[in-house]
Amino acid sequence: MLLKNKNIVITGSGRGIGKAIAIACAKEGANIGLTSRTREELETTKNEILNNNPNVSVALKTSDVTNISEMEELFEFFHNELGKLDGVIANAGASGRYDTHKFTSDKFSQILDINILGVFHTFKASYPYLNKEDKKDKSRFIITGSAAYPNAMPKFAAYTASKYAVVGFQKALSMEYRRENINFTMILPTMVDTQLLRGDKAGDGNAPPNILAPEELNKYYLFLLSKEANRVNDELLFVNQFEQLVDIIKDLSEEDKKSWDTLKDYLEANQQNLFNDIKGQRRLGKFLLERFK
Ligand SMILES: NC(=O)c1ccc[n+]([C@@H]2O[C@H](COP(=O)([O-])OP(=O)(O)OC[C@H]3O[C@@H](n4cnc5c(N)ncnc54)[C@H](OP(=O)(O)O)[C@@H]3O)[C@@H](O)[C@H]2O)c1
Repeated sequence: MLLKNKNIVITGSGRGIGKAIAIACAKEGANIGLTSRTREELETTKNEILNNNPNVSVALKTSDVTNISEMEELFEFFHNELGKLDGVIANAGASGRYDTHKFTSDKFSQILDINILGVFHTFKASYPYLNKEDKKDKSRFIITGSAAYPNAMPKFAAYTASKYAVVGFQKALSMEYRRENINFTMILPTMVDTQLLRGDKAGDGNAPPNILAPEELNKYYLFLLSKEANRVNDELLFVNQFEQLVDIIKDLSEEDKKSWDTLKDYLEANQQNLFNDIKGQRRLGKFLLERFK
């Protein structure tokens, strides 16, 4: 098991990407802190986890990421229930599609508050409880970003602005806290079949093929939380690049996927752009190679 006895908190874990991550982490042996604003969704996630993994602990509490007092109470509660935290995933998010000149200030600032202030609150409130004792087993603060950085989305100006902003936030934190045992990273997905993207149609089985199922992102979160990523800090993982890599690995000859070095040689010779994009992210490349070869 990759995460046995680790304590992981995931914001926005009542549905969508956060729920999938929570279930995947529990399957790998982690104890889980679940939170969002909707209790019923959190209860459903908790039941799904415990039905399949009766040996992990699941703590659950509603909280609004835009409210710092609620977030401070939330992390005190998780600390009391679970102990020191090994991983926090700032995943809660919201979006909205409007012609920009028709955006109301309220709607615009609501999106920024959830997607930027909410990530700041998640960090500020969790910081006292992060496990910072062991440089061989660092705690992880992972932000769910979006491929809206750097590919801006017309009519999604607030969302795009917020996802640019959290890249800056992540970079600032990884510099500021570089002497502490915390890794700051970010996963930037393209389109995922969730309520945020498809509203009530999420999960209806009719999503176009270029839209990922939330579970397809689990491998990236598991990697960043695992001991293989103990030295991975200040990295942005662009999901579309690594999904391309996974497709290539699956179709590759045994010879070319024998090791990371043979795979790298193949990519350098045949997939120059992808090679240049991911060559600095060897640990994730190796992790995916082991899982998909
Ligand atoms: N779906 C995509 O195509 C896509 C692509 C790239 C990145 N992302 C990112 O992935 C993350 C997760 O989104 P998703 O796609 O899984 O959407 P989702 O299914 O709508 O889930 C969003 C989660 O965030 C929670 N949330 C929203 N506002 C909150 C608040 N103020 N306080 C606390 N929790 C709040 C929601 O619960 P409540 O409403 O009950 O609070 C829900 O659990 C977001 O950061 C999003 O930007 C999504």
